[in-house]
Amino acid sequence: MANLLAKKPISIIMAESQETGAHCLKRALGATNLISLGIGAIIGTGIFVLTGAAAAQYAGPAIVFSFILAAIGCVFAGLCYAEFASMIPIAGSAYTYGYATLGEIFAWIIGWDLILEYAFGAATVASGWSGYVLSLLQDFGIHIPPWLAGTPGAPFVMYNGRWEALGRISRTLAANHIDPATLPHQTGVFNLVAFLGITLVTVILVIGIKESANANSLIVIVKVCVLLIFIALGANYIMKHWGQAVANWTPFLPPNEGQFGKYGWSGVVRAAGVIFFAYIGFDAVSTAAQEAKDPKRDMPIGILGSLVICTILYILVAGVLTGLVKYDTLNVPDPIAVGIDKTGVRWGSLLVKLGAICGLTSTMVVMLLGQSRVFFSMSKDRLLPGWFSTVHTRFRTPYISSIFVGIFVAVFASVIPIAILGELVSIGTLLAFVIVCAGVWMLRRTDPNLPRPFKTPMVPFVPIMGALISLLMMAGLPGDTWLRLIIWLIIGMALYFFYGRHHSRVQIAAATAGPKTPKVMAD
Ligand code: ALA
Repeated sequence: MANLLAKKPISIIMAESQETGAHCLKRALGATNLISLGIGAIIGTGIFVLTGAAAAQYAGPAIVFSFILAAIGCVFAGLCYAEFASMIPIAGSAYTYGYATLGEIFAWIIGWDLILEYAFGAATVASGWSGYVLSLLQDFGIHIPPWLAGTPGAPFVMYNGRWEALGRISRTLAANHIDPATLPHQTGVFNLVAFLGITLVTVILVIGIKESANANSLIVIVKVCVLLIFIALGANYIMKHWGQAVANWTPFLPPNEGQFGKYGWSGVVRAAGVIFFAYIGFDAVSTAAQEAKDPKRDMPIGILGSLVICTILYILVAGVLTGLVKYDTLNVPDPIAVGIDKTGVRWGSLLVKLGAICGLTSTMVVMLLGQSRVFFSMSKDRLLPGWFSTVHTRFRTPYISSIFVGIFVAVFASVIPIAILGELVSIGTLLAFVIVCAGVWMLRRTDPNLPRPFKTPMVPFVPIMGALISLLMMAGLPGDTWLRLIIWLIIGMALYFFYGRHHSRVQIAAATAGPKTPKVMAD
């Protein structure tokens, strides 16, 4: 049993992080690349899609407080990630931190759990991305048949000359007293658009980290500009129509309607749980640690910098959006487009769709990048087969791992409904946050003298709060999401006992050479 808790010595992890050569990942990323990688992962479906529904259904204009609340939870976890990422700058992120602090079985659980965040995260975003692409194509008169545009069984109806996912427009239909059964309808079979989106991103990732980062930086500029243009146009409109904006913001915190989560402070908390998805991604920066030029200095800058920039943007967008239009009209799939339409700028809606498509593309890039890097680290430790860490001689990327992940994610995105994927992403990410926060505190106690280029302030307060807030948000997720998480972890355990445990370098070293001379690990 003791073996299951075998830890990977920090000295060995450090040595691995300093390896160089053709079999290693290329150190090409500076602080700006890392911040942009973080923003690339963070800004996506959350702000472009979920903000409206959360404001309309739960918080009203006080959605601004929800963004602040979720940001506080993420900042606590982000500070813990920053300590680990600067101290143990290796591609495995939370998986490696778990190996160093809690032991192999926990490391495996985290690595397996991170699949939920990164692989399922990329699949979720691909699903949302396909919705925007279809909508934009239809703006230009190109109609993809619904059976190639949705997951199996997803209903579509023809409305106003366009194929629309029924889930997206059911409220509009209800408001106009239209029975969907009276409209032409079809069901999805395979979401080819999402499949192609993931395929495209996989190709970018195989070609190279620098190329991926450059493509990502370009996209990040576009999506940040779209949000800034939205804020500027919206603020300008609000200044000119101040009375209208004040009316929209009143009441800022709509009174609770007698049910938990339906406005009032409980609504602010529930909305925070929903828009938490908007912040997921800052931790993905830590998976690029082995590709950073100066990870000790730049990892905290990348993680915390991207988080702070996005928090500010989100709060401004939420404030402007609820000043432009009354919150109860925002329960639509494209709330930012609705807001910009109010300013009277004709090209606004097109701009927002383009921004969303770009935004979601870069989120997919970073999520898939993160997944293949976690597999890379697990494979280096022999918990996964060696080909997961084979590096392409020319591109210097873990190309087999990237292609393998790409195929699976493309299939997930094409056949699993977005709602199921999204909930799994949240619970998986929150579990990783809990373990990372616990790990920081634990390592401070077990190994207080390790050099820590970045130190989480106020330990144990910050890690405890990070873990507690994450647990609270997990507790708010539905029971069937918990069930899926448990089933997922059971499958992971079976794989570990069937494969990982027998091949693990740490286990083999412990069995053959004794824990003090882990030669097997140091090749
Ligand atoms: N934060 C990312 C998004 O909102 C996952 O799409």
